[in-house]
Amino acid sequence: MPTFMLDNQTLTVDAGTTILQAASAAGVQIPTLCHLDGLPAQTSCMVCVVKVQGERRLLPACATAVREGMVVESESEEVRTARRTALELLLGDHLGDCRGPCQLACPAHLDVPNLLRAGEIGAVKAMQPWPAVLGRICAAPCEKGCRRAQWDNAVSIRAHERRAGDADLAGTPYTPPLPALTGFKVAIIGAGPAGLTAAYALRRRGVACTVFDDHLKPGGMLQYGVPEETLPRDVLQAELATLLLPDITLRLNVRVGETVSLDALRREYSAVLIAAGPGVTLGLPAGPRGITVEKHTLMTTESGLFAAGGAVAPGHQAVRAVGDGQVAAQAILAYLTGKPTPAHRPPAVSHYGRMHRGELALLAEGAARTPRSDAPEDAARCLHCDCRALDSCLLLRHGAAYHAARHTWEGERRPFTWDRSHAEVTYEPGKCIGCGLCVQIASREELGLAFIGRGFTVRVAAPFDGALADALRATAQACAEACPTGALAKRDG
Ligand code: SF4
Ligand code: SF4
Ligand code: SF4
Ligand code: FES
Repeated sequence: MPTFMLDNQTLTVDAGTTILQAASAAGVQIPTLCHLDGLPAQTSCMVCVVKVQGERRLLPACATAVREGMVVESESEEVRTARRTALELLLGDHLGDCRGPCQLACPAHLDVPNLLRAGEIGAVKAMQPWPAVLGRICAAPCEKGCRRAQWDNAVSIRAHERRAGDADLAGTPYTPPLPALTGFKVAIIGAGPAGLTAAYALRRRGVACTVFDDHLKPGGMLQYGVPEETLPRDVLQAELATLLLPDITLRLNVRVGETVSLDALRREYSAVLIAAGPGVTLGLPAGPRGITVEKHTLMTTESGLFAAGGAVAPGHQAVRAVGDGQVAAQAILAYLTGKPTPAHRPPAVSHYGRMHRGELALLAEGAARTPRSDAPEDAARCLHCDCRALDSCLLLRHGAAYHAARHTWEGERRPFTWDRSHAEVTYEPGKCIGCGLCVQIASREELGLAFIGRGFTVRVAAPFDGALADALRATAQACAEACPTGALAKRDG
């Protein structure tokens, strides 16, 4: 029963216990990619390295047994740097689209492929709470980014979004589950798309909001700037009503700076967001375009005072104001809870960029060949470019946690290939990081999988050019579950 030190904790474990096992039992999280309980250590990723006093090199925690008197550091700067480097090496060689190009092009980061797979209205409204409104007036930059546009014509995303929004308003509109109030309260100046989106997002995280506006009706540019024939006001009213959740108080016909002072709001509220239109500075230093804010936190020169949307950069499209409102809500929440401000964009470590014609043909296999239309059937033209293993991908999770950068590709990238011949799983070799788990798991198969190639080009495949269906007769599901990326993934249709 060796006794050892792990990050200043003294631990006693059974003989033969690895540092990884001991750390996990003590509640210390060490990241892993190529480790699976019950399988022999692969030591191929080196993401689990730790510092053992007296050892010249860092050691993999998954393959190093605890010894009496060992002193182990699992969180030092040296360890974090080594893990980041290991992750960057893997990321540099990992090629796939984490998110659909459409989602990356949408300023509100709407998960478009999920919407097109008839996703839940709740998931749509979590990112973009104005589907009926923006489904009518958005300039749809998502469609410019749509990969299908490189093949023939973009999927008619905006029409699908409008349909989803209208269907919601036609029935009992969706209301999100609301957590108990945290006690924080935020004042928001401006009841336009940025301000109301921020209020909606904050209330969904337990923060009460009061929204001030000097007009008689809420909606800002949507109410007073967009023509009725483009955006019927009954649609706007109905969707606005879905945003005004309990504990979001609207105070109309109130001009901050005249009816009530900014200082009074700052004293009364935990934080204040200025989301008014262009030209409103409320005495704050204004850059050439509007109020000056710190780019990442959206905080003005005054602590706890934030600005977003038209007040910071005028000329915004409504969808950009919605995206800004989301970002502002996250920044304010981080400020209130003392956590670091999250990244403005959803994490994505990898993307293909432009695809060649042959790659597009491969990706388009199985998608509808019909011409673009605004009809519901158009959703079948979507190529579902996004990675379906996004929520479980350990490379994405660890990469974000260690701020690992994806290497810039130079020259020709590897081509996209995709094996969809197996009934239960798909295999996308570009996403394989060669961890070896599937090779181990499939070793009880008659054919199984093997490493093919050398160095950076090494990938797993069925040996002797065999078919995936023959290689994985009994273990396909287990391999997909173990795969730390989306290389081997369960089929979703
Ligand atoms: S909000 Fe606009 S950019 Fe985003 S998905 Fe909808 S139509 Fe596209
Ligand atoms: S084909 Fe579908 S998933 Fe791909 S970019 Fe277009 S809408 Fe998004
Ligand atoms: S396909 Fe196999 S070797 Fe490649 S990352 Fe997935 S489990 Fe690891
Ligand atoms: S080397 Fe330990 S998990 Fe990969």
